Amino acid sequence: MKFLVTGGAGFIGSNFLHYMVNKYPEDYFVCLDALTYAGNYNNIKNLEEKENYKFVKGDIRDNEFVDKLFADEKFDIVINFAAESHVDNSIKNPNLFADTNILGTMTLLNASKKYNVKRYHQISTDEVYGDLPLDRPDLKFTEETPIHTSSPYSASKAGADLQVLAYARTFKIPVTISRCSNNYGPYQFPEKLIPVVISKALNDEPIPVYGNGENVRDWIHVYDHNVGVDMIVRNGKVGEIYNLGGHSERTNLEVVKTILKCLNKPESLITFVTDRPGHDLRYAIDSTKAERELGWDRTYTFEEGIKETVEWYVNNKEWIDDIKSEKYKEAYKG
Ligand SMILES: NC(=O)c1ccc[n+]([C@@H]2O[C@H](COP(=O)([O-])OP(=O)(O)OC[C@H]3O[C@@H](n4cnc5c(N)ncnc54)[C@H](O)[C@@H]3O)[C@@H](O)[C@H]2O)c1
Repeated sequence: MKFLVTGGAGFIGSNFLHYMVNKYPEDYFVCLDALTYAGNYNNIKNLEEKENYKFVKGDIRDNEFVDKLFADEKFDIVINFAAESHVDNSIKNPNLFADTNILGTMTLLNASKKYNVKRYHQISTDEVYGDLPLDRPDLKFTEETPIHTSSPYSASKAGADLQVLAYARTFKIPVTISRCSNNYGPYQFPEKLIPVVISKALNDEPIPVYGNGENVRDWIHVYDHNVGVDMIVRNGKVGEIYNLGGHSERTNLEVVKTILKCLNKPESLITFVTDRPGHDLRYAIDSTKAERELGWDRTYTFEEGIKETVEWYVNNKEWIDDIKSEKYKEAYKG
């Protein structure tokens, strides 16, 4: 089977490609990425030597380019990871998020329709469900929870999901959607909480924590997310949405303290900063459907996963330094 993986130079997509290209030598993988500031070619450079893989630089919003790529490559399966993904940026520039996340998705849907792909899979997020109160630990998001977004990021992801479902119903495109909780692991761009904390702690710099640090997120190791995506694409029911959660709810403050402990750094580095506008209180996700229907489960506990992740960043300091110096932008030679 021939796969198109968009956004494969980003955090989750690059981990996905490493997993899939090695696990399925009989399948072929084309990575399409625009290499925005969040796309780092260093994440996937060592896949160049693989015979069942190639990289194509391009923009999912470019109709003509996407159409030609689909005509040439005749993909069986399309998996769309490409997105603007940082909530803070969506507050500064909401239109870009609508453009990439909704219109980019529609470009891929149009091509999937025209060239009859066997499966279109949309990587969505639990953020489309909005947030939950801190004092109701019994409540979790299920696939039936209504969409109720808070940020321009989550609204754009929800808009994309609605288009995916509309194309499925109107044009009978075989789609699936996964909605995952907060990911952590190797290759995460150091703008998101966990790599920011590790990177600052390693340099003994103050660690910014929004508000009082009590916001709760459900953390999942990126490997477990990607195993779930593979299972959904191969065995999930067409037209269905699957939640993938980590079973690891932690306050942001707990996450920061766990990392500081792993690195043997003092909690005095923690600095509370003005909260993000519209900051969601709590996410918690019920993944019973994926567990029951697909036999999916997590392999990492949060404590094991975070320890391994901290070690990865410590051992790959050059990877972070290249981002800080912007040298990573030169990694793709074309
Ligand atoms: N990070 C998380 O915790 C999380 C959780 C749930 C869902 N998601 C979703 O997973 C997906 C991947 O997230 P991530 O954290 O890896 O994001 P990321 O920001 O690390 O990577 C996004 C990638 O998409 C590429 N891209 C952006 N615009 C593009 C365009 N117009 N054309 C082609 N490529 C483009 C970027 O270059 C980058 O490589 C996103 O759809 C995100 O909404 C992320």
